Amino acid sequence: MRQYIIAGNWKMNKTVSESVQLAKDIVEAVKDVKKTEVVIAPTYLAAAKVADVIKGTNVKLAIQDIHWKDQGAFTGKVSVDMVKEIGAEYIIIGHSEQRQYFHETDETVNLKVKKTLEAGIKPIICIGETLDERNGGKLEAVLSTQVKGAFKDISAEDAAKCVLAYEPVWAIGTGVVATDQQAQDTQAFVRSVVKEIYGEAVAEGMRIQYGGSMKPGNAAGLLDQKDIDGGLIGGAALKADTFKGIIDAAEAK
Ligand code: 13P
Repeated sequence: MRQYIIAGNWKMNKTVSESVQLAKDIVEAVKDVKKTEVVIAPTYLAAAKVADVIKGTNVKLAIQDIHWKDQGAFTGKVSVDMVKEIGAEYIIIGHSEQRQYFHETDETVNLKVKKTLEAGIKPIICIGETLDERNGGKLEAVLSTQVKGAFKDISAEDAAKCVLAYEPVWAIGTGVVATDQQAQDTQAFVRSVVKEIYGEAVAEGMRIQYGGSMKPGNAAGLLDQKDIDGGLIGGAALKADTFKGIIDAAEAK
């Protein structure tokens, strides 16, 4: 059985001191969580301090993005060695906000996935369609292109270390959540694309998170779905109690 993974993407929220406090609150709230993998992704600025707070606990660190180059003149960017040194276990790659606002493409996603895997860190690869794409009948073409682009020239062995996050753009930060059935149908399709590339074993082993207005009140229904293996949470991850509410829904399965 695939282990649930609930990850909090804090995006551009929380100062360093607020991040440290939230990390402490989450460590306390989830200390008895046994089955579910719990991950938090603070800003770059707060990551090292948050890493110290969660050291030795059952909370793992993710970083929100990296550059694919090892080092150099890339103002504003962070390399994989920097995040490795502070103990990050996951890197979020290809978030729709990166794609929408910061020129992320399937090619740069692929470069970042390769760099992350080379460093022994696990990518959380985000994919998702806009409302226009869904309404225009392009859902499957868009997702298939994103998945195939992300995994280009990546071995099955490496692909098996990745997590996918299906985040419909129209559900992110809008309060409009995909229905359980919409999310399930789409994620089953995503898994079928992974199967087409890598075969049954990798596809069945791969964890696919849902993201987009996931909250304690809708998490149980989503997590009940066969192809939903966790959540990538924005707004509801910014408070320990709402984040814990979603983790509880996973623990109860
Ligand atoms: P919200 O949970 O705020 O909709 O954000 C989802 C998301 O983008 C997580 O990466």
